[in-house]
Amino acid sequence: MTERVLTGITTTGTPHLGNYVGAIRPAIAASREAGVESFFFLADYHALIKCDDPGRIARSRLEIAACWLAAGLDTERVTFYRQSDIPETTELNWLLTCVTAKGQMNRAHAYKASVDANEAAGEEPDANITMGLFCYPILMAADILLFNAHRVPVGRDQVQHIEMARDVAQRFNHTFGQGRELFVLPQAEIEESVATLPGLDGRKMSKSYDNTVPLFEGGPKALKDAIARVNTDSRLPGEPKDPDNAHLVTIHDAFADAATRQAFHADLRGGLGWGDAKQRVVQLIEAHVGPMRERYADLMAHPERIEDILQAGAAKARATATPFLAELRDAVGLRRLVSGARVALPTLTSTGSGGTKVGLPVFKQYREADGQFYFKLTAADGALLLQSQAFAQGREAGEWVKRFKQEGAQVLDGAPVAIAEGVGRAVVDAALAALVAAQE
Ligand code: TRP
Repeated sequence: MTERVLTGITTTGTPHLGNYVGAIRPAIAASREAGVESFFFLADYHALIKCDDPGRIARSRLEIAACWLAAGLDTERVTFYRQSDIPETTELNWLLTCVTAKGQMNRAHAYKASVDANEAAGEEPDANITMGLFCYPILMAADILLFNAHRVPVGRDQVQHIEMARDVAQRFNHTFGQGRELFVLPQAEIEESVATLPGLDGRKMSKSYDNTVPLFEGGPKALKDAIARVNTDSRLPGEPKDPDNAHLVTIHDAFADAATRQAFHADLRGGLGWGDAKQRVVQLIEAHVGPMRERYADLMAHPERIEDILQAGAAKARATATPFLAELRDAVGLRRLVSGARVALPTLTSTGSGGTKVGLPVFKQYREADGQFYFKLTAADGALLLQSQAFAQGREAGEWVKRFKQEGAQVLDGAPVAIAEGVGRAVVDAALAALVAAQE
């Protein structure tokens, strides 16, 4: 079984070198592993909780998307989207809000920290605390449960939120599942092996400490200037240095292979000066980051390309989310008043239980004058979506159709079919998802 891995990136800032080493690079590497299906999204609804500057929100979404793409995220392989493009998220947020205990939210660390800060300052406990902050964990649960993610890679500060998502999922399953597990219970995953990169002063690299090294902004010069400001001890060139006690070395090692590390450590022990050492660090990072920076600049100059990618990602995500949410609505009792004919959504069809399949895409099998067998998939409005190759046996065509109906879009790669001209892959994915949902 493929495992679903999902993680959100709050869009309030501009990624720095620490974000790259600690989050972006490991997530992209993990998404390339076999047997995982990755969902990465820009958590821009969460950003609104922390930031009320529209310009900053807009800029950060663009920069973070460009950054992940420039760093090599393969959007054919992963589902990459914006939270706010998935209206099912906010809808599920409400369903979950209705089964979440307020007492549990009172205990959320982020909320409690704000209350403590208010009390320490002699203010009312809830001064300046919005319902957005208070309900932050529920929205996060909606992000995760909507896609039935098994694993959620997060920082340590987010573990409690994943535990809350599990609780909420359990309560929902128990209340509405009628013996079925509607939601998978997600597991937090903390990357122990991934180093947290130290900043200029040796503390964890973080915006809030003002000790960051920029990833792309300012070009090679800004990188060089930042590395020049990394704190080192006062040993002079020629004096032996301790590579195990220098954060410059930790930064170096995050980009170096084993041999390069060894050579650097040995040279420091042999008296390499900090100035020269810094030059080597800059060169090493630049070799890694330089080509990405070029892709980044190119993407930032073409926001329409990023928009297209995110739209396609949203369509792909909604091919899962839309039928699933229909199922959840049904489970809580938000059903049509009459069974029977169902109204088609723009691309998908509602999937309540029972009833005819008005508005669904259809597979047709047929034989041509050449004596060969074929099948095709057409949308509810008759538009051609998929066309098969020729088969000598009608049975073969039938088997493919059966697989498509049961397994959906995952059959597409490697299937003897062509997507019709002018039709996006996302549209085909959504049509197949609707068919699968209708079978269930
Ligand atoms: N709260 C997370 C953070 O600040 C971001 C986030 C939002 C997230 N929704 C998520 C992470 C769902 C994992 C899964 O880092």
